[in-house]
Amino acid sequence: MSVSIKSEREIALMREAGRILEKVLDHLGENLKAGMTTKDIDDLGYEMIRSYDCIPSFLDYRGYPASICVSVNDEVVHGIPSPKRKIREGDIVSLDAGVIYKGYHSDAARTFGIGEISNEAKNLIKVTRESFFEGIKFAKSHNHLGDISNAIGRYCNIRGYGVVRDLCGHGIGTSLHEDPEIPNYEVDKRGLTLRSGMTLAIEPMINIGTWEVYWMDDDWTVVTADGKLSAHYENTVLITDGEPEILSLTKPIKEELERAVWN
Ligand code: MF3
Ligand code: CO
Repeated sequence: MSVSIKSEREIALMREAGRILEKVLDHLGENLKAGMTTKDIDDLGYEMIRSYDCIPSFLDYRGYPASICVSVNDEVVHGIPSPKRKIREGDIVSLDAGVIYKGYHSDAARTFGIGEISNEAKNLIKVTRESFFEGIKFAKSHNHLGDISNAIGRYCNIRGYGVVRDLCGHGIGTSLHEDPEIPNYEVDKRGLTLRSGMTLAIEPMINIGTWEVYWMDDDWTVVTADGKLSAHYENTVLITDGEPEILSLTKPIKEELERAVWN
């Protein structure tokens, strides 16, 4: 395993990539409404990413056919946008996006509710988001990767949620996926020692029911095995000697945590 340490120059570029990605996700979230198709969301995202002179990093990645992953309800991640799939009042929609700015990647995801959603759905989205912030309390140099995994996993498990095990977070930089792999579930070994200058995409994928998932016939869309709801929350994070810097979230954490989970 080789985990890259970014220079100040590289960090500056990743900071810009993250800043742009935050704007893209905020814009998409604000514009989501019932009646849109998942392809409409992808089109909007593609145009916006291009308007910032960035490249949508997911497009053509291992054959993925779109810029934004749009995963509805029991879809966990990697939903493929389709002109036939309309989003409806009461749905929850996870948007995952990646941009490349001057050769550097940022990767982030949010789950949004469409109109009024069930309390069960609201709590799922809230806990998923909160678990990310629990995890990054441990994201600083000299701590271990397992500390982050354990904090996320425990936060969700004690609240009765299923923590997806088949997909993990990852290092990020000049590639979308770099070492290390970052589980969201509790682990036995504390693992890799974190160092200032590492950049990590931390991304809990949390289910109301079982943690088990399967892949649909399109070979991309991951769905919950029991058909219950799933939520996703991801940011690109820079490890420092102090508080981590969340590159794809410039607004205050408090504001993000208090943000409504539907619109
Ligand atoms: N956030 C996802 C991940 O890190 C996005 C990848 S989607 C793909 O795996 F289409 F690019 F594969
Ligand atoms: Co990711």
